[in-house]
Amino acid sequence: KILILDFGSQFTQLIARRVRELNIYCEIHPFNNPPAIDDSVKGVILSGSPYSVRQEDALHYDYKNVHGKLPLLGVCYGAQYMAHFGGGEVMASSTREYGRANLDYIKKDNPLFKLIPENSQVWMSHADTIARIADDYEVIASTETVKVAAYQIKGTQTYGIQFHPEVTHSIDGKQLLQNFLVDICGCHQDWTPDSFVETTIAALKEKLGDDKVVLGLSGGVDSSVAAVLLHHAIGKNLYCIFVDNGLLRKNEFESVLESYKHMGLNVKGVDAKQRFYDALSGLSDPEKKRKAIGRVFIEVFDDEAHQVQDVKWLGQGTIYPDVIESVSVKGPSATIKSHHNVGGLPDFMKLKVVEPLNTLFKDEVRRVGKALQIDDNILGRHPFPGPGLAIRILGEITPEKVAILQEADAIYINNLRSAGVYDKVWQAGAIYLPVQSVGVMGDERTYENVVCLRAVESLDGMTADWCHLPYDLLAKISNEIINNVKGINRVVYDISSKPPATIEWE
Ligand code: XMP
Repeated sequence: KILILDFGSQFTQLIARRVRELNIYCEIHPFNNPPAIDDSVKGVILSGSPYSVRQEDALHYDYKNVHGKLPLLGVCYGAQYMAHFGGGEVMASSTREYGRANLDYIKKDNPLFKLIPENSQVWMSHADTIARIADDYEVIASTETVKVAAYQIKGTQTYGIQFHPEVTHSIDGKQLLQNFLVDICGCHQDWTPDSFVETTIAALKEKLGDDKVVLGLSGGVDSSVAAVLLHHAIGKNLYCIFVDNGLLRKNEFESVLESYKHMGLNVKGVDAKQRFYDALSGLSDPEKKRKAIGRVFIEVFDDEAHQVQDVKWLGQGTIYPDVIESVSVKGPSATIKSHHNVGGLPDFMKLKVVEPLNTLFKDEVRRVGKALQIDDNILGRHPFPGPGLAIRILGEITPEKVAILQEADAIYINNLRSAGVYDKVWQAGAIYLPVQSVGVMGDERTYENVVCLRAVESLDGMTADWCHLPYDLLAKISNEIINNVKGINRVVYDISSKPPATIEWE
């Protein structure tokens, strides 16, 4: 495996994804808490950072632990760090170097630049620059303004690069990473979804033996893939619980439950609609609604879990981005909305936790799901928030409003599907606004509610752009909703991006 030591760069996870895309396993660890470097580690990458090596409180890592022993690649801050503390000098650039640049010099036959043509475009993003390197360092690539765009410590497998190979604007970045990982570190590109499935199932068998596991299914990709992996490992000893909180999409509970049964999962569907509606009654503050839903979910789940005799484990679909111990360089980011994963581990359940996906990124979870032959109807599904329609009905929740929104949402989503745009959109849904407006239907005046349609493009939900859906499609959806959903006489479309808006309205 490859270790990536994180100094807090926004690009660290992207480096890891690029390494994984080359079918090589890697792990991210904070620079100040690195794991032991044993035989399984084939090389180390030092990430970028918002810090400067010139700052008094620069982030320190003794790279000599690795240098000369294993291949080492410093990216941006990582490169500046080894240049500065290896006897060279890093200074503030006279201008911020940000954006595209071209490598007008590449040292011939340097293994890091194998198959990379001169003038290759790279992506720069730095405020500091390496002004001077020590005598035992050698420049192996330059751009017009950045002389030390890449260096090697002579006679060793330690490299530093000022640009960001993980960003797609660095056209040959993937080749560079491949050169480092395969040719220099000697990694085999054998970390594939199939091999993951095989080794994970074997490991789960070993770990769980004849123990019983309970797992809450949500209908989403992660919990479904986690359940299928566990099912392959322990079969009927996996007890899945799928709760109908009354806040799912139209017919979702029935159809997803059917798919789960079809996949052979031992799953119990629990109708807890009324418990959720009761708990939500009178609440209109979004955070109070979220908390109420989280609390009731735990109660319902706990009641069900107690019915499984001698259960020892709680299965969860936690994925890698949730567990990476992030390097918080600017203090914890402000809580904008309360914790996203409704549920979590209730203290009183005292179960051990098994998380078969906690080394995977989202796209890898989908690839593993495909390798497990899980239905596209589950794998290709848009993300859907745990509190469901409760945070898409602004204000107080009533079963009547849920029913109205379910109808409008179903018309919307079905139209996206039939127009062939569902898979191009990252997430879409309808929002019920607590606003009434005047309309006219036939000869009658109406005074009814507004539904807003939202569709966004995104990679990970952290940032998002609103989708430019075709006008004709929007017109058709609006027409169908107004003509068919009683209680709605106006449809609007949300054209806000995130930031500054968020994807959900609450
Ligand atoms: P926002 O609204 O913060 O949403 O831009 C980003 C992504 O997170 C989902 N989301 C949630 N998921 N529980 C969840 O499980 C929540 O409380 C929650 N709030 C937002 C949202 O649907 C989007 O995919």
